[in-house]
Amino acid sequence: MKKLLQLLVLFSLAALALWTTLLRPKLTPVERGRRLAEATGCFGCHGPEGMEGTANPGRAEKTVPSFKALMMYAKSEQEVREWIRDGVTTARSKSQSWRADREAGALRMPAFGKRLKPHQIDDLVAFVMVASGENSPKDSLALAGRSRVQALGCTGCHGRDGRYARPNPGSLKGYIPPWDGEDFAELVRDRKEFDEWVRRGNTGRFETNPLAMYFLRRAAVHMPAFERFLEPGDLDALWAYVGWLRGRSKGGAVSDGPPPESP
Ligand code: HEC
Ligand code: HEC
Repeated sequence: MKKLLQLLVLFSLAALALWTTLLRPKLTPVERGRRLAEATGCFGCHGPEGMEGTANPGRAEKTVPSFKALMMYAKSEQEVREWIRDGVTTARSKSQSWRADREAGALRMPAFGKRLKPHQIDDLVAFVMVASGENSPKDSLALAGRSRVQALGCTGCHGRDGRYARPNPGSLKGYIPPWDGEDFAELVRDRKEFDEWVRRGNTGRFETNPLAMYFLRRAAVHMPAFERFLEPGDLDALWAYVGWLRGRSKGGAVSDGPPPESP
């Protein structure tokens, strides 16, 4: 009986270890924010993923702003936080004409401060900043990589700037791994593996591992092989872009800082 109990404890410990190391979803603040925005109703007014605001009759702008228009409304992360928390920024709340315009419109930005906890608002801010597309690398190679990511269609599955974790039923974690999360380090050990993923849609390390292949095959969505569609220099540019995203320094010197909201 005692043996059985010991075995049971041992088994649960092993299961717990497996869960915390391998299976537990490791969502980034940006992705937590995206999911929260969906659950909180933001996309009803700002459009799917905040990309296209709905019509707003009565307002001078005629539509709810998308998050792409962020800089016309918020000068800083702090102001984005104010919009979400208070439904307005401190600066704008003092404007008589803004208040009149707001009253005239059918849709008004709600204040979420009472509904959400501060850490949830932080996640929303992280998401809105990425959705706005404002943060981009200064290094020209990384910048080229960023535009190739869109041209090649990577953003469809990997989300804006490769930073969302869209659902992938049947996969190990249940989502498509973003490039700025913890999963990336487990899937991509070095430049060689990165190139293998992009060219062939897999890496040699997993192809020879039956357990890994079991999970990769079970998933609904698979990483495509892009070999045929790559132009000369693409892999270097993509790698430089992902490096910037993950805050890796280049050639020993820190060329560009990581995006402020990255973990
Ligand atoms: C009922 C419609 C509605 C909902 C729901 C809504 N908003 Fe807004 N939002 C607006 C309107 C209208 C504005 C324009 C603000 C103004 O000038 O009055 C705005 C402005 C903003 C802005 C600044 C401008 C921009 O788009 O970059 C941010 C950021 C924002 N909203 C985030 C959010 C987030 C995050 C949520 C969900 C937690 C949300 N909104 C939910 C209507 C809405
Ligand atoms: C059809 C959806 C889809 C597209 C398009 C896509 N990927 Fe993927 N990608 C995935 C999935 C799913 C995985 C996870 C591995 C798997 O299950 O095959 C993945 C994994 C990866 C990985 C492994 C590490 C990680 O954290 O994501 C890299 C790197 C990657 N993709 C890069 C790219 C690049 C670069 C492009 C564009 C050239 C791209 N992907 C386009 C679906 C896609």
